[in-house]
Amino acid sequence: MSPWLHFRTQLLAWYRPERRPMPWKAEPAAYRVWLSEIILQQTRVEQGRAYYERFVETYPGVADLAAAADDDVMKLWEGLGYYSRARNLLKTARMVEREHGGRFPDTYAELLKLPGVGPYTAAAIASFAFDRQVAVLDGNVYRVLSRYAGDATPIDTGSGRKHFQAMVDRALGDARARLFNQAIMDFGALVCTPKRADCPNCPLREECVALARGEVYDLPKKEKKLKRRDRYFHFLVLDDGSGRRVIGQRTAADIWQDLYQFPLIEASSPDVGTGDLPSLPDWPAWLPAAELQFQRRSEAYVQQLTHQRIHAIFHRFEWTLMPGTLPEQRIVQNKMLENFAFPKVINRFLADKRLLLDLF
Ligand code: ADE
Repeated sequence: MSPWLHFRTQLLAWYRPERRPMPWKAEPAAYRVWLSEIILQQTRVEQGRAYYERFVETYPGVADLAAAADDDVMKLWEGLGYYSRARNLLKTARMVEREHGGRFPDTYAELLKLPGVGPYTAAAIASFAFDRQVAVLDGNVYRVLSRYAGDATPIDTGSGRKHFQAMVDRALGDARARLFNQAIMDFGALVCTPKRADCPNCPLREECVALARGEVYDLPKKEKKLKRRDRYFHFLVLDDGSGRRVIGQRTAADIWQDLYQFPLIEASSPDVGTGDLPSLPDWPAWLPAAELQFQRRSEAYVQQLTHQRIHAIFHRFEWTLMPGTLPEQRIVQNKMLENFAFPKVINRFLADKRLLLDLF
């Protein structure tokens, strides 16, 4: 028996859909598969499930999502991170409505043209929703295959991806992709896990090259080491004495696009004295430093993103002459803040300070 025939036979014998129930397994309509896969792109299944349920409840079909207000979708997405996914979600829903008559395209090549749908997601939708014979390549698949074959080809290069795509195509063979894809991903999530893999009970342990060589946790290999850039965000919490705050929407092509925040001064260090903030280039032109009364500053709240580490420091000022309107800013009551989608680090700050009743 060829090793890949053995691999898929063992894998499919192991697979039981009920072992890892997922709402979209039972009802693999393209809209639901697409929605779940976009949510799960950078999110663990356990966390993604609740978001998925809320999305299908709020927007049962693609037409409902296409008609949604951008801010409502961002608010529902709040906490999941990688907000470009939410923006692409809306773009795709509107494209499917307008250009495809409300039906998702049913081929891998056409699916790939939708915003936010890459090779993995296109293969997942094509196989799960339309029973197409295409193999998925995601983090689970890289891990399972590189270990089983003892293959140290780096996975984060163009040629590495091609190499493993060819390998998973061979592994899939004539098995049904809809089953095989779900099986290999569940296997990677439940047995062949990144840490503490269940090798003693693994149905592939006899042939697993990495296990025989004691290299399970050395694989898969990556060529590039992840570097994180530190950024220091000084937020201005402006209080007018009657419970109002100033917030604005992030519009630049940067992290957290379209989310809301307090006025922000980005600095090269966390140690800027509050009195020095007005001399920094980001200080807003509409904000008269002379009218502000400094009250206190918070400790640094840290949020890790894939390529950046954000250090957020909140400076609270009283501004009793706060006007009713400000360019590109909103003035909102404290208790209305929860209606806006904020980055996680701001929500953590808000949650902390609400404990003290008066925000901060
Ligand atoms: N991660 C993303 N999509 C998944 C799926 N359909 N099954 C298991 N893990 C996943």
